[in-house]
Amino acid sequence: MAYSDKVIDHYSNPRNVGTLDKSKKNVGTGLVGAPECGDVMRLQIEVDENNIITDAKFKTFGCGSAIASSSLATEWLKGKSIDDAITIDNMDIVEELALPPVKIHCSVLAEDAIKSAINDYRVKNGLPALELEKSH
Ligand code: FES
Ligand code: FES
Repeated sequence: MAYSDKVIDHYSNPRNVGTLDKSKKNVGTGLVGAPECGDVMRLQIEVDENNIITDAKFKTFGCGSAIASSSLATEWLKGKSIDDAITIDNMDIVEELALPPVKIHCSVLAEDAIKSAINDYRVKNGLPALELEKSH
């Protein structure tokens, strides 16, 4: 299977690997698993008082495409409002990284992790949780 240069770049030099303090009220934590492969991803966001994401970190026990997808996702998240962040679609990640079809679910993992982190933040801050339905 041929991977794009962007996948290899993010995989060999992943951005924003790490952990934010999840006890903080302005930190949202998403932890999701992919049913297809059993891999797990954690993604966290730190949000300022204007609902702008100021930091994002991830850890994944997933494959190279999952690492690349979440690395890219954290780059995209920083500076976005939580309302804009929720619109990040896994197919944007697939396109940007030119992921092959068998690796699409790895990007779904990243999208799910973003949404779950946003919901964690929302619930912690008294906002209603959003519906996280996705058909793929
Ligand atoms: Fe790929 Fe659902 S995660 S088909
Ligand atoms: Fe499991 Fe990619 S194969 S996340």
